[in-house]
Amino acid sequence: MLFRGAVLAVCLALAWSDTPANCLYEDIRGTWTFQETERSGDSSLSCDELGPVVHTKTFTLSFPDTATDELGNEGTWTMIWNQGFEVNINERSYFAFSYYEGDFTSATSYCDRTFSGWSRDKTIRNWSCFSAQKNTRVAPRTSSKVTQPLSKLHKAYRNDEKLVSDINAAQTSWRAKAYPEHEKFGRYQMFLRAGGPGAVLSSPPSPAPATPEQKARVAFLPENFDWRNVEGVNYVSAVRDQASCGSCYTFASMAQLEARLRMVTRNQRQDVFSTQDAVSCSVLSQGCMGGFAYLIAGRYAVDQGVVAEECNPYTALDDPCDTDTSCARTYVSEYEYVGGYYGACNEELMLQALVEKGPLPVGYMVYDDFYNYGGGIYHHTGFKNDFNPLEVTSHAVLLVGYGVDNATGEKYWTCKNSWGADWGEDGFFRIRRGSNECSIESMAFDATVIP
Ligand SMILES: *[C@@H]1O[C@H](CO)[C@@H](O)[C@H](O)[C@H]1NC(C)=O
Ligand SMILES: *[C@@H]1O[C@H](CO)[C@@H](O)[C@H](O)[C@H]1NC(C)=O
Repeated sequence: MLFRGAVLAVCLALAWSDTPANCLYEDIRGTWTFQETERSGDSSLSCDELGPVVHTKTFTLSFPDTATDELGNEGTWTMIWNQGFEVNINERSYFAFSYYEGDFTSATSYCDRTFSGWSRDKTIRNWSCFSAQKNTRVAPRTSSKVTQPLSKLHKAYRNDEKLVSDINAAQTSWRAKAYPEHEKFGRYQMFLRAGGPGAVLSSPPSPAPATPEQKARVAFLPENFDWRNVEGVNYVSAVRDQASCGSCYTFASMAQLEARLRMVTRNQRQDVFSTQDAVSCSVLSQGCMGGFAYLIAGRYAVDQGVVAEECNPYTALDDPCDTDTSCARTYVSEYEYVGGYYGACNEELMLQALVEKGPLPVGYMVYDDFYNYGGGIYHHTGFKNDFNPLEVTSHAVLLVGYGVDNATGEKYWTCKNSWGADWGEDGFFRIRRGSNECSIESMAFDATVIP
């Protein structure tokens, strides 16, 4: 154990140069020059290096999600959190991470340029690499996503009984409890369980105001709904445990694809998909350092597909890619942020997408008090853990239902977490709905799986 801890600490120190980019909507909006290589690659194209430029394109990315080329052809674009952006135009899809230098403790983001990224056509067979440069300069932004010294984060995590009793004394909507099993983790590992350093962002977008049409459609939905019990049938796969790896995004992603496959096959296919495959094999995530459902249940599942758990069993480590290549892969045909782009989400659109399309990965901010959730309808109380305050981070989970508490009238969402079945309400939790609690109404994601 001691030896392993030491190895882990060394790996972390190295791995901390991964994705500290912090680029905002206004940084990205504007006119860009894309330099693209020959369109002759396939899905194995690496794009670590750009290679010789063959095509130069000019794309204007304007509000809210319109992309236009030099000839006036229109497409769409979206930010992915603060990490990069995707452009879909002229039957091609482009994605690249925003450029930065440094690490999570101190980074400079150069939001007017990207790393080398990936471009492919609609058939997913015609690939090239590209890099993008904005035509107007954006001032470099320095940021630190982790404000505590590493030495502090490497200490053991301890339950704070005062935090638990403070929460329970202050309100009755949810119950806090101490989880002795959390003490097997270090603070840094607890931080990874809740999203990790890549996902720290000070100000996620607010939900988009609901239109009268959106409100009218929601009026026809049931008051309570849960994909675990739709007229007695469960479409949600079993709760899993991500352990001490910042892989929540792939657990939420695979949980979505598992549920969607159960729905479209009427439970004839009950696949459990490999979360390790995305951790170890996808260039679109940072492995145990974090990632996004948009890029995994979305782009990766379209480009490369996902495989059964047995094809690369979960280790919770940043292992080299070792997926059994003889395994069949399951693909996604379409994906989008609920509302069409990052920033368009709101409660009404989430309700409609959840009931009509199925479970949705969502992101929300994890504060100290959330780790101690033991049941009820969560809202952030503001109480801190005195022994080991953690960074506020964004965690990904799977939204499976919603309802209204009979006694209090409080509205809630029901989500599947990936902290094991002993946590919360049998591995699930409920959180206040309709007030963007912890930003939970800002980043829901939809994907269509091909059975
Ligand atoms: C890829 O698509 C381009 C058009 O965008 C076409 O000119 C080219 O021949 C295609 N390459 C392959 C290998 O299919
Ligand atoms: C709330 O009330 C409805 C209808 O009155 C009932 O079907 C449901 O089981 C109740 N839910 C709980 C959690 O008590």
